[in-house]
Amino acid sequence: MKVGIVGWRGMVGSVLMQRMSAEKDFELFDSVFFTTSNAGGDAPVVTRGERTLRDAGDVKALAACDVIVTAQGGDYTNDVFPKLRDCGWNGYWIDAASALRMKDDAVIILDPVNLPVIQQALQLGGRNFIGSNCTVGLMLMALDGLLKADLIEWVSAMTYQAASGAGAPQMRELLEQMGHAHASARDLLADPSSAILEIDHAVSTSLLSDQLPVRHIGAPLAGSLIPWIHDDLGNGVSREEWKAGAEANKILGRPAMGEPGSVVIDGICVRIGAMRCHSQAMTIKLRADLPISDVEKILSNANEWVEVIPNNRDDSIRELSPARVSGTMSIPIGRLRKLAMGPEYISAFTVGDQLLWGAAEPLRRMLRMLIK
Ligand code: HSE
Repeated sequence: MKVGIVGWRGMVGSVLMQRMSAEKDFELFDSVFFTTSNAGGDAPVVTRGERTLRDAGDVKALAACDVIVTAQGGDYTNDVFPKLRDCGWNGYWIDAASALRMKDDAVIILDPVNLPVIQQALQLGGRNFIGSNCTVGLMLMALDGLLKADLIEWVSAMTYQAASGAGAPQMRELLEQMGHAHASARDLLADPSSAILEIDHAVSTSLLSDQLPVRHIGAPLAGSLIPWIHDDLGNGVSREEWKAGAEANKILGRPAMGEPGSVVIDGICVRIGAMRCHSQAMTIKLRADLPISDVEKILSNANEWVEVIPNNRDDSIRELSPARVSGTMSIPIGRLRKLAMGPEYISAFTVGDQLLWGAAEPLRRMLRMLIK
């Protein structure tokens, strides 16, 4: 088995490389690394890896691979994937980008949640396996148990999405903005007798000043938030919000959202000043009036990464935060309680690393599945 890897130097690609090395994936196949800018250069050193980088636009070299794993982005996929298929390549395409996600011949991969959907596609000769939108994947990992038991009628998810979802430059710029805000109040902060409203005024002014770095993010994010993520679909819905219902039902192998048998998922997606963990506050309409203890049991038994956090102040503050979850595979879900709307309405809050389960992990697990 020969595996071609494209986009391994970007943010998702780097996390993918870390995970593949940690899990010794490279011992299982021959690998060749592709580049869009440095063909002929040195490839990363991994077991059974070719030492020289190949050109990521070289369709012949790509077609020599049994599997291609790409985190290079949607433009690359749109450019290269059709050429590869047109030349008769029948290998497996595993992709982090959204370009092919909603195509009929593509499966969205999140195997702890939709292994039967993936297996069925493989049996039917499926060749295109695409990672989900990070927010959707993280939500489904958290709600896995209730979804498998078909206990959810609808979910309203209000998200708190980290800068990493926008990209590496945005993460850097968020920190620059934080530094800018801090610098505006540094002297006042150092003086214990300064007035808090004076500090606040300095920071507020700095966030709206044309000195604030906003080239990548487009608005103040440090000390603020942005209640719109991705394109404007023109009907009041952002593309990120549309993805929730569209992708979730496809992942689950259900009819399109709104059709009988689908789960309705909608809400507002918000960018906040976290680094790489997406959080979501959910209102869930259950199909039955279940005791919360049953809900907790069903959720925590669903997969090995989800972790139910007791709904009390200390555990919630300690365990349900981006700071806590960052860099881990854990999917905590907590704040579980019945809402005042009625016995079938529950709240939940979940956090997940946007680069791990939200992006890189499903790709390497799909690769493992193919090798098996
Ligand atoms: N679109 C997501 C975000 C990240 O902007 O946070 C990738 O799924």
